[in-house]
Amino acid sequence: MAGDTSILFVGDVVGRAGRRALEALLPALREELAPRFVVVNGENAAGGIGITPKEADAFLAMGVDAITLGNHTYRHREIWPYLQERREIVRPANYLPGQPGRGTCMVERDGETLGVVNLSGNLYMQAGSPALVTVDEALREVSGADHVLVDMHAEATSEKVALGWYLDGKVTGVVGTHTHVPTADARVLPGGTAYITDVGMTGARGGVIGVRREQSIAVMRTHMPMRYDAAEEDPWINAVLIRASAPRRADSIEQVLRPAS
Ligand SMILES: [Fe+2]
Ligand SMILES: [Fe+2]
Repeated sequence: MAGDTSILFVGDVVGRAGRRALEALLPALREELAPRFVVVNGENAAGGIGITPKEADAFLAMGVDAITLGNHTYRHREIWPYLQERREIVRPANYLPGQPGRGTCMVERDGETLGVVNLSGNLYMQAGSPALVTVDEALREVSGADHVLVDMHAEATSEKVALGWYLDGKVTGVVGTHTHVPTADARVLPGGTAYITDVGMTGARGGVIGVRREQSIAVMRTHMPMRYDAAEEDPWINAVLIRASAPRRADSIEQVLRPAS
């Protein structure tokens, strides 16, 4: 049926633990939840910070339809040309026009199209223009899509909540990323847009938002710089499943929070 779809969106995949958790759980989640589209935030996929073509290729080989990013987009130089070449990976649309990559893409599965928009918050983050202004132009780029999913990568809950209200009735879903901690406010807004302030992270829950906890604690206790490694202990997947039966209108959003072992 036209417009009938489901989207599994996976929160920031952090390092090896996150990649392994996704790899281990995705086949069973496909079986159980039957998502038509799978979209993954990959901004922490390479060693906890950034992404390289290797991790992006691995996600796409798993059948991931699109990859979104965030403030760690440009950490590894190898990804810069990849962002120009590949359509299925997007960086925040409100970055400067001169920065590599695109902020929107359209992917197709079973005759249905999904527009994916990535945005960066403005508070405590370096973005070229205001997310709530640039999003108008980004939505025009995906105007032909049956469904639209917006990943708002932001520190401030207020910016994400405001974007959710601003887009209510215009897109299928607005999902927040970046804090790595899932919030308890998943719901479908009155106009039909599925919303959550933060999906959380796919990575080791035994660390401090993805970093080995003893390193993070030491830095906070000494105020001295230290090497950060990605945590490995207690990996989980943090995701949401959005179901829709009409174009750009969600019926439901549910959190998918599962241990990988
Ligand atoms: Fe992140
Ligand atoms: Fe981030």
